Amino acid sequence: MPAPLSPQLRAMLAQRLSFYEDLGIRLFFRRSPNPAAGETTFESPVDFQSPSPALPEKEEEHLAKRSAAPASPKSSATLSPPADSLFSAAIPNDTLEKIRADIGPDCRLCRLCEKRNKIVFGDGHPAAKLMFVGEGPGRDEDAQGLPFVGRAGKLLTQMIEAMGLQRQDVYIGNVVKCRPPENRPPEKDEVAMCSPFLLRQIDAIRPQVIVALGATAARALLQTERGISEFRGQWQEFRGTKFMATYHPAYLLRNPAAKGDVWKDLQKVMAVLGLAPKKGKQA
Ligand code: URA
Repeated sequence: MPAPLSPQLRAMLAQRLSFYEDLGIRLFFRRSPNPAAGETTFESPVDFQSPSPALPEKEEEHLAKRSAAPASPKSSATLSPPADSLFSAAIPNDTLEKIRADIGPDCRLCRLCEKRNKIVFGDGHPAAKLMFVGEGPGRDEDAQGLPFVGRAGKLLTQMIEAMGLQRQDVYIGNVVKCRPPENRPPEKDEVAMCSPFLLRQIDAIRPQVIVALGATAARALLQTERGISEFRGQWQEFRGTKFMATYHPAYLLRNPAAKGDVWKDLQKVMAVLGLAPKKGKQA
């Protein structure tokens, strides 16, 4: 008879299983030691069912604001993007440290500097095989100076772990490094000012695969106005690197039914990177 789980472990397990269930994974095997043979055997499958946790009201409001917020008025300053463009050649021997130093402690290249708290440079392994690119920092990221640390970030972390990786194995960046006021999508000139730094990060890291999270990141990098559902899950090439767009984790928080699509996309990424889902998790 296995020892009973503590309430805390039980809650964590329920949350994790509910995440896999949202991805369409419903069959789980319980690992149990077989002392006679000195081996581990798999007991009968457990079909786990639980309702998706409801979003707390605050987050609903926050997410609704993000899509509904009007664009802020343009400042009168004339903005011109730095010399690098998305298509400029890689800078030889560039490093994340140099890029961070070039941005400086108080970047004022665009109007996003006016309301931001912290610059969110990016985070993760400097030679990651997999790089995620999001839209821009939200409230939690702006407060902590780290990408994807709010609710959407927790979901992204779960997605990364479901792929058999840890967050520190990948690199996570954003199209803009400062929080757009009211979490509105970044405007074209803000993306133009900031994305050269992202491009340098991509060139310095040289990931095998880039995954764009959401339409803003996908459109900014692919320089397209097409809707993300037209090309989501399809391999593209971005400056010689395999590139795939998928839905943003914030969208998944509002539309958990789309998690299955994202999981399919991530499985294609896993196939390219030679990753297998963790043992004991059966689709
Ligand atoms: N959403 C993003 O696109 N990026 C973050 O860093 C956090 C939320």
